[in-house]
Amino acid sequence: MHTTQPKIIDYEGSRYRTEFWENQGREYEDLAERAAIRQLLPEKGAVLIEVGAGFGRLADLYGGYDRVILMDYSLSLLQEAQRRWGDDDRFLFVAASAYTMPFVDALADSIVMIRVMHHLQRPSIALGEIGRVLRDENVFVLEYANKRNLKSIGRYVTRRQSWSPFGLEPYEFVELNYDFHPDWMTERIRGAGFLIEKELAVSAFRVGLLKQIVPATWLARFDKSISGVGAALKLAPSVFVRCRNTRQSARSGDLFLCPVCKGRSLSRVDDTMFCPDCQSEWAIVGGIYDFRQSVSRETGSV
Ligand SMILES: C[S@@+](CC[C@H](N)C(=O)[O-])C[C@H]1O[C@@H](n2cnc3c(N)ncnc32)[C@H](O)[C@@H]1O
Repeated sequence: MHTTQPKIIDYEGSRYRTEFWENQGREYEDLAERAAIRQLLPEKGAVLIEVGAGFGRLADLYGGYDRVILMDYSLSLLQEAQRRWGDDDRFLFVAASAYTMPFVDALADSIVMIRVMHHLQRPSIALGEIGRVLRDENVFVLEYANKRNLKSIGRYVTRRQSWSPFGLEPYEFVELNYDFHPDWMTERIRGAGFLIEKELAVSAFRVGLLKQIVPATWLARFDKSISGVGAALKLAPSVFVRCRNTRQSARSGDLFLCPVCKGRSLSRVDDTMFCPDCQSEWAIVGGIYDFRQSVSRETGSV
């Protein structure tokens, strides 16, 4: 049994946008992921939360939602997101952990989490939180990295890879970077009270040479045409899942709850959110709600 708090990967100050996405030869992956989200996510709703939204790469897909909450553990990435989306009143930026989300029960009509699961040491805790914050019968779109993909199977059978892609346990290839077996992940998703409604096997053409000779738009179109059928075998490196929440919980307040004591009486005091129940204070930094670590007036960070 785990007793310690899960470790969280540190993206603070990272150049994720410029060093991973922009002009880095990943246009195909970006297009394929967008196509998958469009197929799985309800077009409209009141509140959408993206968990681990980073710099807001995918936020243009949420045009049909009245309120869009971009949540991430990295304040600096959220500041980038805010520079990009901050002029749109629908957006709210929240620095917090997927393990202790500072939102009331049943707040969101839809939740999206893309390219984040592979960083989670304790997926079930985050899935439980997402189930709590999502309304009953509503949709959570999840992406996870698939360890049993074709490339990994090929490498394993030709002995260029020592670890088995067929083993159920997550494979941590670099600290806090995990690939998951689809059966293992399915069990966790169901265990958290979700029904798996639809799956897509995405980014099947993530092969250097192919990406160099075939335009990204074509590859993404092929990808989309096979992603539904491919889900039966799940041999692509990325799996997208539309999960339907089966929990029965009632909305427990307007927006925020205290991530420490779960108190629902948070109120704004100057540039902080204050919890009268446990006396925690949370900073608001340039318009971004920071629920990662409470601050105290006298001593600063605690
Ligand atoms: C690979 S990036 C993906 C960003 C975005 N979803 C995208 O696809 O462009 C992973 C993001 O997950 C965030 N993250 C990792 N662990 C987290 C946690 N426990 N709670 C909240 N965010 C987390 C990181 O800060 C980072 O921004």
